[in-house]
Formats: sequence, C-alpha cells, structure tokens
Amino acid sequence: MLRAVIVSPDADMASRLSEMIRSQGQVGLMKLSDRYPSGYDLERFLRANAPQIVFLSIEDLAKAKEMLRGIEETLPGCQVVAIDRACDPQVLLNLMQVGVRECLAYPFESQSYKVTINRLAEQLDKRPAKIEFSDNVFCFPPSKAGAGATTIALNTAVAMSRMPDSHVLMMDLDLNSGLVGFMLKLDNVYTIYEAAENASKLDEHPWPQLVASIGKLDVLPAGRLDSQTHIDPMQVRQLVSFARQFYSSICIDLSGNMEKFFIEVMQDCKKVCIVCTPGIPSLHLARQKLSLLQSMDLGDKVSILMNRAQKRPIISTVQIQSLLGVPVYQEFPNDYRGVHNALTTGREIDSSTELGKQFTQLSHSVLEQSGPKLGAKKKKNFLEYFTVTPTRA
Ligand SMILES: Nc1ncnc2c1ncn2[C@@H]1O[C@H](COP(=O)(O)OP(=O)(O)O)[C@@H](O)[C@H]1O
Ligand SMILES: [Mg+2]
Repeated sequence: MLRAVIVSPDADMASRLSEMIRSQGQVGLMKLSDRYPSGYDLERFLRANAPQIVFLSIEDLAKAKEMLRGIEETLPGCQVVAIDRACDPQVLLNLMQVGVRECLAYPFESQSYKVTINRLAEQLDKRPAKIEFSDNVFCFPPSKAGAGATTIALNTAVAMSRMPDSHVLMMDLDLNSGLVGFMLKLDNVYTIYEAAENASKLDEHPWPQLVASIGKLDVLPAGRLDSQTHIDPMQVRQLVSFARQFYSSICIDLSGNMEKFFIEVMQDCKKVCIVCTPGIPSLHLARQKLSLLQSMDLGDKVSILMNRAQKRPIISTVQIQSLLGVPVYQEFPNDYRGVHNALTTGREIDSSTELGKQFTQLSHSVLEQSGPKLGAKKKKNFLEYFTVTPTRA
C-alpha cells in the first residue's frame, strides 16, 4: 500500500480524489489538508504522515511551488502529482522544471488515475521516498495521575525494543513526577534538562552520554526535580526531531497536565495513548482530554487504553465507550504482583504474564499500523554519527 496525502484548498476536488483513492485500492490516504503547510508545519506534516505520494493542488501556484521545495528537502524521492481543474499546459511545463512529472485533471477519471499510480509505483520502486526519520512517535498521557501511563509507556517501549531491527527511545517528559529512571534503577548523570539545554546543538553533543542504554532501548529520564529550569516547547520539538533521525520508535511519557509543550508533542506524534482506569473520575478526565484534542483537530490520533480493567466491571465496556464517544483501543488487566515484582527488580513486567502480553500486543498493533518500519535501516548509526562511545552498553 502506498502512502499518500492530499493538499488542496478546493474541498470538492479533494473529496472526489479521496473517493477515487479509496475505491481503487493500492494507495492509502493518510491525511487531507485544505491549506498549504509551510516551514516547520510542512516538516511536521511530512513527518507525521510520511507520504510516498503528495497530491498537490496547483490552485495557488506560488504556495504549491514553495511546498515542492520543502518536500524535496525533507522527503527526497516523494512523488508529487499536481491536481487541478484546468491543468494549463504552460503551468504544467513550468512545474515540470521543478520536478513534477504527473498531473491529474479534475474531474478525475479512473483510467488515467490507475496509469498514473502504476507509473509512480514503478518510480518509487526504483527510488524509494527517502524518509530519514521515524514517524513512530507515541505519547502516553494519563487521564488522571496514577492511571498507569508510565507503566504502560515504559513496558510498551521495552516490548518494541524486542522487535527485530528496532532501536527505541523512552523519553520521560513528566517533569514533576518522572519515574522511568527510578523504575529501571538507572543512575543517569544526565536528564531531560541537559538534553533540552543542548537541544539546538545536538549534532555536536554526545547524545549517547545523555541516555542510558538497556539492550536496544535508550532511556532519557526526567531526573531531578527542578523548579528553576524551564523546558520550552521549541526544545522539546528539537529533541524529538533529533531523535527521529536514528530511533525506529519513540515513546514519550507525559504527566496528566496539559502543559504548553505537551500540545507540541501531541501534534508531532503518531498516536496519543490516553491511559485511564474504569473509575468515574478517570473516565471524566479522559473525556475532557479527548474533547480538547478533538477541538485541536488531533482527535484521530487518540487511542484510549483501559488500564486495570476488571473481569466483572461495574461500568461495562459499552457504557465506557458511549461515555467517551470512542472505542477502547486495548485493555490491560490489574496485576498488583506483576507490577510490584517489576518495581523491586528494576525491570520490565514479565512478558509471559497476562499484563505483559498486552504490552507486546500494543507494540505490535501500533507499529503495524504505522506502515513500513522506518528508521531501522537508517543511514546513520550512533558510531557513525558520533565519535563518542556509549557510556552503558
Ligand atoms: N495494570 C496494573 N496493575 C496493578 N498496578 C498497576 C497497573 N498499572 C499501574 N499500576 C500501579 O499504579 C501506580 C500508578 O502507575 P503509573 O504508571 O505511575 O501511573 P501514571 O503514570 O498514570 O501516573 C503505580 O504504583 C503502578 O505500579
Ligand atoms: Mg506517570
């Protein structure tokens, strides 16, 4: 399945094209944008959707051309199909000079659509869209503190790191109650604060010294409580962008507070896993967070994870789903002993337990949904990238 996005201020044209894409198969539509993203917005748009094909309306030629330059820079190899009502030959000639080889004229016609897609598939086969970053960024806010977000985020990150060709980063962005370092009994010298301070010059900074490595999992803990140091959204964005270049997946643990940088993180990530429990306060807060994210057009990224799900629940799954307005993505059983054993040994929850199996399942389902695994066969690895060897092997 080829991944595509449509960028078109003309809603009618965009919806006709998405109908065509859906009816013909072969191409999966990742996103439809009614405006031309530019600058960092464009970078984020491309990262989050990792398209191989962009159907680009040339209604506003100047903006379309600016976008073409951005696509070439961020995602070389990505194929652009100009879409237009007129498809003026002079304009097309002009576009060919900036690398556009395909055009589809509205109203779209299935035969020419098929021919175009086949040509693009061949082209992509020869020269794949070079995505130099992973789009597998997942964040885990709890609906309410104590719901189990950290437990699920960390154990899912460990499960992801067991998958072949993976290299996973667990980032603790719960600045007030960061527990990841404690849960793994890490003795990191550096924390998220040092990483954030160096966010703008990470290319030169020895990243491996900032993180602790446990097999194929790297951990950036929240560390000390620090009321003086401030982390701003730009630093978090830079950190995540940097990490995307060489990790196959990134899991971010968040607190339940909707701080400024959280929204940035959520905009950047592939999935927002709101962790809640079947109690009324937790469900109430999950619904609040969900509607906030929906109001910011991020609703389609949200998955509800039901932790400590009971065998004979007082509130049924159907009731929960009607209360939240969205289905529960996955349930995690209550396992006090399993969690306790993990905490006392400083390890992940045993993967052979019922709870442990759920983390494996979650890691598989979210990564399968994210399309082809990216970043695993990345062009740079640590040792090529840095001259410094990791502190912990
Ligand atoms: N499925 C579970 N079964 C039993 N205890 C759990 C489970 N999930 C989390 N816990 C426990 O609940 C408490 C809160 O979990 P934590 O992951 O820190 O929540 P959050 O990050 O949402 O604040 C911790 O003591 C943790 O060990
Ligand atoms: Mg937590």
